[in-house]
Amino acid sequence: MKNVFVFDHPLIQHKVSLLRDKNTIPKEFRELVSEISMLMGYEVTRNVQLKEVEIETPVGIAKTNVISGKKLGIVPILRAGLGMVEGMLSLLPMARVGHIGMYREHETLQPVEYYCKLPEDAAEREIIVVDPMLATGGSASTAISFIKQRGVKKIIFMCIIASNLGIERICKDHPDVKVYCAAVDEKLNDRGYIIPGLGDAGDRLYGTK
Ligand code: PRP
Ligand code: URA
Repeated sequence: MKNVFVFDHPLIQHKVSLLRDKNTIPKEFRELVSEISMLMGYEVTRNVQLKEVEIETPVGIAKTNVISGKKLGIVPILRAGLGMVEGMLSLLPMARVGHIGMYREHETLQPVEYYCKLPEDAAEREIIVVDPMLATGGSASTAISFIKQRGVKKIIFMCIIASNLGIERICKDHPDVKVYCAAVDEKLNDRGYIIPGLGDAGDRLYGTK
């Protein structure tokens, strides 16, 4: 699929393996999610626009490039997406952060929205939506639709583990959105968990189970 990018960098693959390990404790889990997000963010921002400037060095004038100031936004899907924000902000300190609160209803697996606060000027920004898990794709697809309703034209979705089903859903619902992930797993179990996946990302980040 032309809009789907799977990172095969050894550092990312190694950290994803540690993340999957059921013995990884929340402190390490949070650190790994943050590190993976930063490594992925490095590649996701490859096409950020540059402009040429002149910088005075101690010994001369350098014609060199800086980020053009095109506005970016990061939107985590709560809760688990929060774990990816710090890593992204360390690369993009000037980015604004919006939040979308969403959980999956246990029986139906349908996403339920409970919070949405985006930057006032979201429509003028390129938005990177972050959530470690893309399972049925319902949460991400609904979140992207909300963001589009606010007039945003350019959206990227970044997750750590995706299922084939989730990828198909985003490509079908939002063919204009590029999907970046670190691993693609084959299937979901009957409770909508990615198998083998890593379990419940929110619970593992915050130790709630
Ligand atoms: C998880 C995850 C995604 C969603 C993915 O959140 O962080 O948002 O499930 O599943 P989907 O692709 O089938 O929609 P969850 O609903 O567990 O909420 P939480 O982050 O608050 O724990
Ligand atoms: N949400 C999670 O946190 N994990 C899964 O495997 C699926 C949805």
